[in-house]
Amino acid sequence: MKGLVLSGGKGTRLRPITYTSAKQLVPVANKPVLFRAIEAIRDAGIDEIGIVIGDTGPEVRAAVGDGKRWGVRIEYIPQDAPLGLAHAVKISRDFLGDERFVMFLGDNCIQGGISQLIEEFGHSQHNAQIVLKQVANPQQYGVAELDEHGRILRLTEKPRQPRSDLALVGIYLFDPSIWQAVEAIKPSWRGELEITDAIQWLVEHGKQVYPYVHEGWWIDTGKKDDMLEANRLILEEMPASNEGYVDRDSHLIGKVIVEKGAEIINSTIRGPAIIGENTRIVNAYVGPFTSVYHHCTIEGSEIEHSIVLEHSAIRDLPHRLEDSLIGRYVEVNRSPFKPRAYRLVLGDHSTVGVL
Ligand code: G1P
Repeated sequence: MKGLVLSGGKGTRLRPITYTSAKQLVPVANKPVLFRAIEAIRDAGIDEIGIVIGDTGPEVRAAVGDGKRWGVRIEYIPQDAPLGLAHAVKISRDFLGDERFVMFLGDNCIQGGISQLIEEFGHSQHNAQIVLKQVANPQQYGVAELDEHGRILRLTEKPRQPRSDLALVGIYLFDPSIWQAVEAIKPSWRGELEITDAIQWLVEHGKQVYPYVHEGWWIDTGKKDDMLEANRLILEEMPASNEGYVDRDSHLIGKVIVEKGAEIINSTIRGPAIIGENTRIVNAYVGPFTSVYHHCTIEGSEIEHSIVLEHSAIRDLPHRLEDSLIGRYVEVNRSPFKPRAYRLVLGDHSTVGVL
C-alpha cells in the first residue's frame, strides 16, 4: 500500500501565521501536524508516501525533505491550482499506480494513529473505507448518513442542513475503483472536485464503501482554536522527560517535557507542557497546555494554553497570556517608555486582545 498526504491550501483561517508558513507546518506539541501525519502512515507500515503540494510547496519540501529521517521515501506531487481533494488524487495517478492507498489530509490529527485502519482495509474486500466521527458542527465537514444497518446512504459535502452528525475525517482508503470515480464527477458549487462526491459516486455505483466510526479524538487543525485543542490533546498523552537544565529555584509540576538545551531558571512550569530546544524560561510561569517551540525566550511573564513558534520572545508582561498562537520571530514586550501606550507592529489579519 502507498500513502498520499495532501499538503496544499492557503490556510486562510490561520492568518497571519499562514502568510509565511504552510498551515500543515504549524507545530502542535512542538511537532508540525504534517510530520504527525507522515509518522502515522509510517507506523502503519507504509514506506512510500506522495505529498501533494501547492503554493507552499517549497517550504513543505524544505521542512520534510526526502523522508529518510522517518525511514520512508517521499515523492512530491505539485498541484498547479487548488482544484479539490479529488483533483489531488487524480494528479497522483502515476505515483499511486494500481495499488490500494491511504489518503491523509496533512492538517488532520487523529488519536491512536491509523495502523488498525490500514490493517483492516488491507484484509478486506472493500473498495473504499471512510472514517467518521461524531461532531457538534457537521455543516463544516463532509457528512455521512447511514442506514439502520450502518451502511452508507449518502455523503454530502458541507450540507447546510446536515442529516447526521457524522463528519468525514480526512483519512480515506481506496482501491483502484477510485480512478473511475474521480474521472466521472463534476466540480462542486465551490469549483472543486470533491472527494466526498467521488466516494458518493462509488456508493451509487455499487462499490463497497465501509464506514468506520472513530471513537477517539480527531481534530482538523484549520483554525487557531483547533490548533490549541490538538495541542492540548497531544500534550496530555505525552510522558514527562527532561533533557535540558532546570535550576534549583524552579518547579516542574505534572507532565513537563524539557527538550535538549532548554533552560528553566527560577520558574514554575505546570504541565502538561513542552519547552523546546534551546528555549529559555526565566522568572516565568508556564501553565498547562502550552507548547513553546525552539529558540524562544519567556522572561518575567506568565503564559498558559498557548502555542509559541520558534525564535519568539515574550518579556515582562504585566498580565498572563492565554489562548494564544504566537508566530515565528515575534517579540511581545512591556513598553517601558512614556507615555504609557500600546506600541504595535502587526501583520495583516493579526488579532490582539488587550486588557
Ligand atoms: C475536507 C473535506 C471534508 C472533510 C474535511 C476533514 O474539507 O472536503 O469532507 O470532512 O476535509 O478535514 P476542507 O478542510 O477541505 O474544507
